[in-house]
Amino acid sequence: MYLSRIEEAMLDGEYGEKIALAMRILVKVGETVGAERLVRVRHVHVSGVSYTNIGEPGYEFIRSLFEGGARVSVYTTVNPGCADLGGASAVLDPGLLPLQRAINSVLEGGGVDPVYTCVPYLVRRPAAGERLAWGESNAVAMANSFYGAYTNREAGPLTLAAALTGRTYMAGLHLAENRVVGVRVEAEKPGGFGDDVYGSLLGLYIGEAVQSVPMVARGSLPASFMGVREMLAASAASGSHGLVVLEGVTPRGSYGLGGYERIGVSSGDLVDLFERVSSPLETRGRVLFYVGCPHLSLSEALWLERLVAGYSGVVRGVDFLVSLPYLYRGFVDDAVFSSRGITVVYGTCPVVSRFRESYDLVVTNSGKALFYMRRIHGVEVSLASVKEMLGAAMVA
Ligand code: F3S
Repeated sequence: MYLSRIEEAMLDGEYGEKIALAMRILVKVGETVGAERLVRVRHVHVSGVSYTNIGEPGYEFIRSLFEGGARVSVYTTVNPGCADLGGASAVLDPGLLPLQRAINSVLEGGGVDPVYTCVPYLVRRPAAGERLAWGESNAVAMANSFYGAYTNREAGPLTLAAALTGRTYMAGLHLAENRVVGVRVEAEKPGGFGDDVYGSLLGLYIGEAVQSVPMVARGSLPASFMGVREMLAASAASGSHGLVVLEGVTPRGSYGLGGYERIGVSSGDLVDLFERVSSPLETRGRVLFYVGCPHLSLSEALWLERLVAGYSGVVRGVDFLVSLPYLYRGFVDDAVFSSRGITVVYGTCPVVSRFRESYDLVVTNSGKALFYMRRIHGVEVSLASVKEMLGAAMVA
């Protein structure tokens, strides 16, 4: 692999042993995937920081990288951990807080911006054509597809190596040849589904059915920002799509158009998928209602706050959880939610955390949460829009 003079010096330890270690990781992985050089990045988003996922070995690895005063060399944000940093959750295991805080304090000591969210694009909007090294699948899909930036979905250790060196390997979605549309998807929106559920279903469908770079036809795009985010998060989870071209939205020049195939997705296809993956919405037994995968934007959180305030009833007999970026603490009125029996958690989400009790059913508007809740927590999941969820959970 070609390395610049500075990169050679980093590798040789002239910038310290941690930078040299990070460089060795990047070069090794880069050579394995055939990268010819490294590329400088403008923003790193570190993933793989939840204690429940990485445990003591992961904590020790992160600590070893930053011990001795090593610091990130480029703007770096970080994904949610496994603990509610707002401290109010009755749903998630509070015993995880000190374990997660230990990881967080190492990262913060190394200069990482403590945003604890999976939506770094709402913290710092990526520019079209910008190079990034992000490690969260929904964020990667948004960066490439919505903003026209360039990033692979990096594994946690690689994001840390990129943060220390300010570089990643030039391969995958950093190369124009891997950003060429292979399939144009024309979908018909079924009646009766909220836009968030439509986005989730279409994303799950694309994840299962399309192997090359998909392009979603302009008239088939979800109408709302939330719907688009749900679609990209679901297709990234179920099909590992880091780029889904959004016709008329994805900046031109950040993708190529070849001789693509076309597939039609009828409303019947999406209804069939819904019936296959979504359990009936029940409020009997132990049920968790969950909104905020991916974390809500501030305007979505304030919209939800107004919606909740408009209900005269309260949530009874079920748990209702909303997850938000840590940096939104103080911007949302938690009392509005708690007065209606809804818990707001910050800097975490139930997918990367541990429940206090087991649930028979999780109800969510998120196709990504559906995908992982079944796999990780082994629970039944019902897909429903935010409004349907509030209507079902609120008791007069
Ligand atoms: Fe974010 Fe958790 Fe969903 S990290 S994308 S809310 S699984």
